[in-house]
Order: sequence, then structure tokens, then C-alpha cells
Amino acid sequence: MTTRRNAIKSISLAALALPSLSAPTNDGTPALPSINDPQYWTKIRSQFMLSKDNVFFNPGTVGVMPRVVVDKMTEHVRYLASHVADWAYKDDNKEEFISGYNNLLGIRTKVGKLINANTGEIAMIDNVTNGISYLANGITLQPGDEVVTTNQEHSGGRGGWLVKEKRYGIKFNEVVIGKPIRNSNEVYQDIVNAFTPKTKVLMISHMISGSGAILPVKEICAEASNRGIFTILDGAQTIGHINVDVRDIGCDAYVGCFHKWAGAPAGTGFMYVKQERMKEIWTTVASGRWDNHDDEGFRFTQRGTGNFSVLKGLDAALDFIFEIGPDRVYARIKFLGDRLRAGLRQNPNVKIYSPEEEAMCAGITVYKVNGMTGAQLQEAFWDRGNMRPRSSGEQFGVRHCTHIFNSEEEIDKALTIVRDLSKG
Ligand SMILES: Cc1ncc(COP(=O)(O)O)c(C=O)c1O
Repeated sequence: MTTRRNAIKSISLAALALPSLSAPTNDGTPALPSINDPQYWTKIRSQFMLSKDNVFFNPGTVGVMPRVVVDKMTEHVRYLASHVADWAYKDDNKEEFISGYNNLLGIRTKVGKLINANTGEIAMIDNVTNGISYLANGITLQPGDEVVTTNQEHSGGRGGWLVKEKRYGIKFNEVVIGKPIRNSNEVYQDIVNAFTPKTKVLMISHMISGSGAILPVKEICAEASNRGIFTILDGAQTIGHINVDVRDIGCDAYVGCFHKWAGAPAGTGFMYVKQERMKEIWTTVASGRWDNHDDEGFRFTQRGTGNFSVLKGLDAALDFIFEIGPDRVYARIKFLGDRLRAGLRQNPNVKIYSPEEEAMCAGITVYKVNGMTGAQLQEAFWDRGNMRPRSSGEQFGVRHCTHIFNSEEEIDKALTIVRDLSKG
């Protein structure tokens, strides 16, 4: 484990070196440091406005915007409030005041770059719940057709299919998978064994929110595609966390959000659908382009007046990730997650619900201290260390996320709290 940790650390600090980043700003925000700076991660931490009095371990619910994101967004709010009269409402106008009517080519291209997709395959939406609902509602299925999923999906991934089940008589098959999952082969078998000739859609999380398990989605999608099954991945927990390459995965559709791990304002998400499958999806929120297939991503992006200031924030958040480098972000998150799990695994009074196979884990660890509920554990972290992981309920302890704004010292302090609690 130590060797692996050191290897990841060295990737994170040297091999992925980028040129030095932005110059110091006039408003007191420190410039992004050089990757060769030994204080690199401490300085990255200073890009966030998080209070120094407490420790945030819950980007799996809602993330943290770096200062530059807050600045870009609020700048635009002010601009809109003061300069809206300048807006000529013309399509070719360079300034964008609202979203929901524009093709948003710039930001869709950036999102495409992050997940290796073409601009036309990306629709900008508000969140994952919307995207999965658009897909569930937009795909034509017959009574008796089956959708295979797992029993550990978030309600935002399930809801659209439950509506379809009740309304149209499809079957939503929630396959039981391990908690913890022991290894990728086990979960692969659990899922593909559930496919039948009636299975028309697969919809699973790329990363399960209640355990942090990264599923072997490439292999599962390949098997599904061989059987003509439409494949959808819920990426609520992956974007800005682990690397996502939709071409390599080979899924038909992928829905993600930026307000958890990617440092963007709440209400930012995307829906990717492979170009050749786009036509199969009916529009749900319909406006002028509801049946216009020239730019399929725009068809789903055009959904009435939205908040462009939020997209300004998203744009800055994407730049922030690209400047640090998605590989380096992942390596740092994983390094801290591994450190946490390595410490927890030494404690016999701790039960871990994240996968036993470390390659299936990154920044989410779910665990309990024997004899304590999730709520008790959450409260104890706050009382003893002003630390904020999130309760996973009565049975499953807490979900403890690590991100680039966390430090080794914070992980070690959390482990000390767990050790003290497990002594009773
Ligand atoms: C796996 C998963 N899917 C969907 C959602 C819902 O995401 P959103 O709030 O962006 O709709 C979440 C939120 O936690 C999630 O973890």
C-alpha cells in the first residue's frame, strides 16, 4: 500500500507537470502554483474560500466552488443587473444574458473535451435527475420491456424509470449487488446475468454514491451492446473526480453534473448521447427546436429561460480543472482516499462498505464504527474535529469524501477520531 501511495503521489507531483499557471490577480487571490512547488496542494487549497475552522468531506452531496468560479459568476450577475439594456436579443450577439435559447457551443465543446465527446453530442442541463428523466421519458419502450439497473441507484437515477414502469408497464429490474462489492468480476456477473431477451436498456451508476464503487462499466456496456441493449451511465459522482472517456467506455448515453466534484455552481449538468443514437430520444422539455435534428445537443439544451451567470461559473470551473489537469485531480483525490481507507482497514472496529478491490475506489469511502449509527458518527466528527463527512443512515455509517482541498493532516486527524470512537 505504501509503495502504491508513493507512486500515486509522485505521479501527482511530477510526471503530470504542466506549465506554470495564471499570474497573481489584483484582488488578492493567489495565483495557481507551479506543479514543482512542494507546497502545491496547500496553495491549491488557498484557491478555495472554505473556512479554515472546519473540514469539508462531503462533495458527494454538493461541492465547493473555487474563488475564481464565485467571482466569474457574481461578476456576470452584476453585469446582467446593470447592462441588460445593452442586449440586442440578436442571435449573433456576443454577450449571453440568459441560457436555454442559445446553442452554448463554447461550453458544450469544453464539456466534450472533458469526456471525449463531440460538441453536438452534449446537451447542457441542470442536473443528473433531469438528464436521466429526459432519457427515461424520451426512449420508446413497450409494455414488458425491461430496464436493468442495480439496487443501489440514487433516487434521481431511478425516478424517471419508475414513472415509466407505472405509466407504460415496463419492468425496472433492480439487481442486487454487493455492499461491499468484493471485486469487479463479481459485480460484472451480477449485472450481465440479469440481461434477458426483453432487456432494452441498461442504466447504472458509473460510481455508486452509497459506496464509492467504480463499476466496470466498459465491460458491462460491451456485453450489453452485444445484445442490442441501450446503455446509460449515471455519472453524478464521477465528473471532476475520476477520468471519464465516453468513447473508450462505449456507452450510448452518459449524464453528469458539475456541482459535486467539479467545483461549479449548483444547477449545472450535461447529457451526452452518442451521435448515432440521438434521434431515438424524444424531446421532453419542448421548445422551438423540439424536432430539429441539425444539432441534437442543442435540441435538449433549448429548454426555456435559464441562468447564464451559473454557466459563467461552470466555464471557470472547467478551466480550473483543465489548468490543474484532470489526471492530477484524480491522482490527488485517490491518494487521499487510499490514505483514509488504509488507516480504516487497520481498525478492527470499523466496517468498510466501499469495494475491497482498491482499483474500484477513489474519493468516496463509506464506513461505520461498530455500535454507532451514521447520524451519531456524523455528529461525533463535528463535535470532536469540526469535520463534515455525511451520514449514510442507520446502517452504513458515513460517506467520507476526499478532494483536492483536503490534506493528509486532515485525513490523519479523522483517523484519530475514528480510533478514539472505536475504543468506546
Ligand atoms: C449517483 C447519483 N445519481 C443522481 C444523483 C442526483 O444528482 P442531481 O442532484 O444532480 O440531480 C446523485 C446525487 O447525489 C447521485 O449520487
